[in-house]
Amino acid sequence: MPGERILFVDDEEQIRKLLSTWLTRHGYDVTMANDGWEALKAIRAKAPDLVITDVNMPNMNGLELTRRMRADHRTARIPVIMLSARKQADDVLSGYAEGADEYVPKPVEMAVLEAKIEVLIKRFRTTKGDGATKRGGNVILFLHGKGGVGCTMLAVNAAVALAATTIYRVTLLDLNLEFGNAPMLMNLTSLRTLADLAENAHEQLDEATFGTYLEQDRSGVRVLAGCDLPERAELVTVPAVQQAIDLLQKQSDYVIVDAPASFSQHILAVLDAADAAVIVTAAHLPSLKATKQTLEVLEKLSFPTERTVLVVNRTSAAGVEMDHVARFFNRKPDVVVPHTEAADDAADRGRPLSVLHPDSAASKVIRDLAARIAVAAPAGR
Ligand SMILES: Nc1ncnc2c1ncn2[C@@H]1O[C@H](COP(=O)(O)OP(=O)(O)O)[C@@H](O)[C@H]1O
Ligand SMILES: [Mg+2]
Repeated sequence: MPGERILFVDDEEQIRKLLSTWLTRHGYDVTMANDGWEALKAIRAKAPDLVITDVNMPNMNGLELTRRMRADHRTARIPVIMLSARKQADDVLSGYAEGADEYVPKPVEMAVLEAKIEVLIKRFRTTKGDGATKRGGNVILFLHGKGGVGCTMLAVNAAVALAATTIYRVTLLDLNLEFGNAPMLMNLTSLRTLADLAENAHEQLDEATFGTYLEQDRSGVRVLAGCDLPERAELVTVPAVQQAIDLLQKQSDYVIVDAPASFSQHILAVLDAADAAVIVTAAHLPSLKATKQTLEVLEKLSFPTERTVLVVNRTSAAGVEMDHVARFFNRKPDVVVPHTEAADDAADRGRPLSVLHPDSAASKVIRDLAARIAVAAPAGR
């Protein structure tokens, strides 16, 4: 496909010249780098459609380059072809382990390389989309700057409220990888998780297989857990999260994501796909300060304000007055959830608050929250 941007990385000038001439002649827009460091700089300046990299290079080798690309939400999905004279099974496997899509032995068989380039760029284009056509349901990211503010409780109950309309197919992704407890609030135990999915290393992950990792709650919400044990969290990579979001979008109108109090690469990856962000805060200074910083980060990332929903959750009976809160944020909170003892009761009984106590004032406000979400990110758009 002419015009596609390829970054070619090799420390040997002869090979750089040879390959770049050949690629340019085949219509690709080629840039070059001498080593992994230079490549990373070039990729961050302008992301290519594909990276072809040598393995052994000074400063930073191709394995490390690929590892770093896969760990960054901006570059995690860019296809990588490794070229190397080292073709022992061990070398090839470590290339794939770092996230290479293809491992091609040197000397390079040009026709084979071209075929692989074509396939990978085409696949990349479809995952990336063209920006104009949406690929499925809306992603709603529940964020908080400080833990214990009821973010998970509200994510779970908003999902249940959206599903209760019976209009929407709703999935809930628990991305609190180390201490996730969204499934617990729905009495779902021993779920299969994204960590299991990574461990099982499915060759081709189709929608049906992926579906076996989801568990349906009585409310109709289908839940995907990130991880079951803190020490297994690292199994869940950034590309794995991106793939999960893609697949969940295909099967739902709303994908609700419960995030930990962090802007990790995983969460930034979700934010890239997010149609709306719900920011949850308590009405106490430590949480308010963290929330202000969270809103500032969203602004720096150019996340549109009209797609944010600011929720003040009164996790305790006391707290800062609402007009003070509004002045502090220079913005009126969109939703204020009243304090209720029923929240802890529901948590202890492993049932969503809005199901156990549908008539409580908090449950009513949660239904308003679901409606606000539907306004910030209308289904089918
Ligand atoms: N409106 C509320 N009133 C009283 N307690 C609440 C309220 N919202 C949440 N809680 C309680 O606050 C605690 C923290 O909730 P959780 O959803 O785990 O917070 P986070 O995800 O922000 O860490 C839980 O014990 C929950 O029952
Ligand atoms: Mg939580």
